[in-house]
Amino acid sequence: MTIRVAGIGTALPEKIVTNDDLAETMDTNDQWIRERSGIGERRVGGSTGELATEAGIQAIKNAGLTPDDIDLLIVCTTTPDQQLPATSAVVQRDIGLSCGAFDINAVCAGFLYSYVVAYGQILMPGGPNRVLVIGSEALSRIVDWNDRGTAILFGDGAGAVVMERHGQGELIAHDLGSNGDLQDILYADHGGYIRMEGREVFKRAIRAVSGSVKTALDKAGLTPDDIDVVIPHQANIRIIEAVCKSTGLAMEKTVNVIETTGNTSSATIPLCLGKADDDGLLEPGKIVLMTGFGAGMAWGTAVVRW
Ligand code: COA
Repeated sequence: MTIRVAGIGTALPEKIVTNDDLAETMDTNDQWIRERSGIGERRVGGSTGELATEAGIQAIKNAGLTPDDIDLLIVCTTTPDQQLPATSAVVQRDIGLSCGAFDINAVCAGFLYSYVVAYGQILMPGGPNRVLVIGSEALSRIVDWNDRGTAILFGDGAGAVVMERHGQGELIAHDLGSNGDLQDILYADHGGYIRMEGREVFKRAIRAVSGSVKTALDKAGLTPDDIDVVIPHQANIRIIEAVCKSTGLAMEKTVNVIETTGNTSSATIPLCLGKADDDGLLEPGKIVLMTGFGAGMAWGTAVVRW
């Protein structure tokens, strides 16, 4: 049995905050932010549930389906709107779904964890035929807008995919990893802001993602040259360049949105999938590698035959 992505949806708040806007309130500038991170602007606004609902509705529509066709909803987020219920409950109601729903939090690796879980669900005997997976974040609520070390990096947004049992598409191999010893380098307490040791996260991320990409490629029996499209988590364009250098993946094959969105955590990968789809890169049979990392640290890579 094989499983494909039948439809993709994205949602970004209307409000744009440029680097120049940030430079008005903190000691930074457009050139520094662009050179160090690849970010030019980010979107700010909306709740996690609202953004998720918009992206989810679009993904269902793009798949040519209706809410009744969805058998399971997974929302991955690190910024749930409430402690309880799960954000997925609100999204389920607002999209008009009548299926099971739950949240996953693996921070910026959340979409990869959710993709793999959804895939496994569909494979289970009697499992769902179609799973809606949404990565959604309202990170601006937990950003300290007085901290230039973090405020420049993050933004709000959502991306969604409908995964369905089908004669086309396959998860060839995956790697999920986590190292809880590294939680102090990137965290936010309840009611608090994101705190980060930027340089340490930078180094650890390159190491974790490079290792994960190599593991997944080994498991798949593929080489970097076999990969047609690379969808990396959007945290810093220099991290993406370093991972490409260390793994042999071609930078020209990466699909990036970071310049206009910043880091939207679990939404970055489906946002990049949306762009790849718009650019006509996701044709059946293409080999797509998705990889990401985040606080925890948690990381993951999926090698998919589209
Ligand atoms: N504007 C201008 N200068 C800044 C600045 C800003 N926004 N932020 C830091 N600086 C200064 C520092 O104070 C430092 O000055 P000093 O040399 O006088 O001490 C200098 O710039 C270099 O700081 P450093 O922290 O070493 O910069 P960097 O090259 O590591 O870039 C990050 C900083 C945050 C962009 C980078 O470390 C990063 O992206 N880390 C990973 C973050 C990440 O991926 N997080 C999400 C994980 S999912």
